[in-house]
Amino acid sequence: DEMRLQERFDARIDAGDFIEAKDWMPEHYRKTLLRQISQHAHSEIVGMLPEGNWITRAPTLKRKAILLAKVQDEGGHGLYLYAAAETLGSSRDQMLDALHTGKAKYSSIFNYPTLTWADIGTIGWLVDGAAIMNQVPICRCSYAPYARAMIRICREESFHQRQGYGSLLTMMQHGTPEQKAMVQDAVDRWWWPSIMMFGPPDDQSPNSAQSMRWGIKRVSNDELRQKFVDAAVEQAKVLGVTLPDPELKWNDERQAHDFGAIDWSEFWRVIGGDGPCNRERLGARVKAWEDGAWVREAALAHAGKHQTMKEA
Ligand code: ACO
Repeated sequence: DEMRLQERFDARIDAGDFIEAKDWMPEHYRKTLLRQISQHAHSEIVGMLPEGNWITRAPTLKRKAILLAKVQDEGGHGLYLYAAAETLGSSRDQMLDALHTGKAKYSSIFNYPTLTWADIGTIGWLVDGAAIMNQVPICRCSYAPYARAMIRICREESFHQRQGYGSLLTMMQHGTPEQKAMVQDAVDRWWWPSIMMFGPPDDQSPNSAQSMRWGIKRVSNDELRQKFVDAAVEQAKVLGVTLPDPELKWNDERQAHDFGAIDWSEFWRVIGGDGPCNRERLGARVKAWEDGAWVREAALAHAGKHQTMKEA
């Protein structure tokens, strides 16, 4: 009965077991995973837009090929994640409908504009860097289909981070003064939104306690944010850029960097639908869905024709 199943499930979680799609799971565990994985998938798909914006304007053939590969990887990540979410009993149509009607969230970070070429390198360095920091622990998520998808995603994400950092290094070491200023400007604009990506502070994160208990999240929002800030400070030094936070400094006692207050009102505004590019991003996804209707209809008609032929 339900109680026994629940006890067995809790014991498996406590023992560090992985849960598979066909195993019994509490309804709240299933819903929490479906929410997180589908939102993660949406983030990958919407995340293609800010960078896709620069494919036709990449400065060299090499940079264009790298950017194309990266944006394609993101499409692939979205597809593995939708497939992982489907194992929890939701259809892709339902998930996409939730995105298109504004019911499902996607990462706050993709609601900011990409104004210059330096934004592309900065997204690789900071945004993909933050994504890896958050996603490596998910490779050990208690839900096995999600954990397995994350392994490949993290490998590709590392390449994305390195290409971004490499591109910025080229501009900082060999660029004109204007190009260097462009990098600094991009870092100034992306820094705070990047550290918001980890989500609200632990004491204001409604899902954290339960998700940590279930091993869906292995490391808390604030802990990951701290690790990211500590790593970024060193990388910024090598690059020769300044992080736009006058309160950022090493704290010997904590063996970590202190940093200034995050503007959480901006974060809540952006995830509430009112960021600089929310309407544009959602509009682009809805348009792509509507423009693709004829392809879906044609594929269904084709499948239907074959079915009729088989039956005849
Ligand atoms: N952008 C948008 N929404 C966010 C963000 C963010 N950066 N951070 C938190 N939220 C939302 C949560 O989804 C939650 O809303 P919901 O209950 O309506 O779903 C609410 O804010 C409160 O946050 P938490 O209670 O902390 O939520 P949660 O435990 O899900 O933690 C986190 C949020 C850390 C983003 C988690 O869901 C996660 O690790 N997701 C997987 C990674 C991911 O989605 N990355 C996407 C960006 S990276 C990329 O795609 C390249």
